[in-house]
Amino acid sequence: MPLDTAAIRRQFPFLAPRVDGQTIVYLDSAATAQKPSCVIDALTEAMKTSTGGVRRGMHPLSERATTLYESARQEVARFIGAQPQEIIFTKNATESINLVARSYAASVLREGDVIVLTLLEHHSNIVPWLQLSEEKGIAIRWIDIDDAGRLRMDEMEEALSDPRTKLLAVTGQSNVLGVRPDLATVLPMAKSHGVRTLVDAAQRIVHTPVDVRALDCDFLAFSGHKLFGPDGIGVLYGRGELLRDMPPFLGGGSMIRTVDRAHFLPEDPPYRFEAGTPPAAEAHALAAAIRWLTALPLQDREAHAHTLLSHAIERLRRVKGLHLLGPGTADEQCGLISFTLNGVHPHDLTDLLGQRGICLRAGHHCAQPLHDRLGITASTRLSVGLYNTIEEIDTCVHAIEEIQQAFQQ
Ligand SMILES: Cc1ncc(COP(=O)(O)O)c(C=O)c1O
Repeated sequence: MPLDTAAIRRQFPFLAPRVDGQTIVYLDSAATAQKPSCVIDALTEAMKTSTGGVRRGMHPLSERATTLYESARQEVARFIGAQPQEIIFTKNATESINLVARSYAASVLREGDVIVLTLLEHHSNIVPWLQLSEEKGIAIRWIDIDDAGRLRMDEMEEALSDPRTKLLAVTGQSNVLGVRPDLATVLPMAKSHGVRTLVDAAQRIVHTPVDVRALDCDFLAFSGHKLFGPDGIGVLYGRGELLRDMPPFLGGGSMIRTVDRAHFLPEDPPYRFEAGTPPAAEAHALAAAIRWLTALPLQDREAHAHTLLSHAIERLRRVKGLHLLGPGTADEQCGLISFTLNGVHPHDLTDLLGQRGICLRAGHHCAQPLHDRLGITASTRLSVGLYNTIEEIDTCVHAIEEIQQAFQQ
């Protein structure tokens, strides 16, 4: 059954008529998703009724905040097939990946070890490894893509079978090309060579079910804000047996058992990795976002994204001088398409679209190594969400054509 887009749109306050009369066409959900009312309500309700120190105080408000926070952990665990104690709340996917680099990798990897990355990665899954590489003499080995953006599996196999390789950090879905590496092949391949795995699921988790037990990955990171949840909350899944031996990432309150003048004894996971006052209202709102999303049948969500993207690809393909990046099919690309346009810089294009209320993203999208590989410095990205319609795609493509014509005069 097709998604009832009209009913979905009514749940998103950003689509309500604006005072200035401008209509917003939001095609930038891959950067951050808009929030449905139930998520906004969950956030404000938690702040109104349950503000109190999580796991600190003995009073009712503190107990309520703790209940919200720990229930959210259970909800997130169910969502990705993990145990609650394997769920660490962080600030975002970036912090989750940094946690693995600073805690797991910094304590286990040695000089001369190799970390495998792919050219599809977002800077959040590159820079923490470059930092570690500089500090500890760990080598980074890059897996290339073909011209359409598919991972070179021959290179992957070779890199994973190198006995020096200790960790693979791979995206679940490229934020520029929308392609999804074949994790069902890559992760078992890594495991068979004793290589630990981290999946950057920041984009993938919005469109594709993620089950950490089925994937059999060691770590998996994502952000709340792309998943229709609030800013300021992210998730790191870590395999229980690995978390148990990992040192703390940040130090402070909440992550210790005891402290004296000379020593501290850290808490068990996941608390060991959650220093400071935790984001209870945000966790509660993230759980509301997950409930909202999963209440919509998966196949309807997938069909909606596929229909929108097929339409966008077909319309964009007809724009003269527009070059699509990636395979150029909605079967292989998920939720987004990036492109360049002859004679119009992506920043000019998105600026002029923005003046018409049409929101797209321009630049290197925090994926400079990928843009280098594609031989460009910047591109424009159109990404869809559950609230988008075919008419919005048409409005956007029509505006692109008009802007292009204006540049040609
Ligand atoms: C694939 C991917 N990984 C990681 C990130 C980082 O997410 P955040 O900025 O929420 O930490 C993003 C954000 O765009 C992304 O697209």
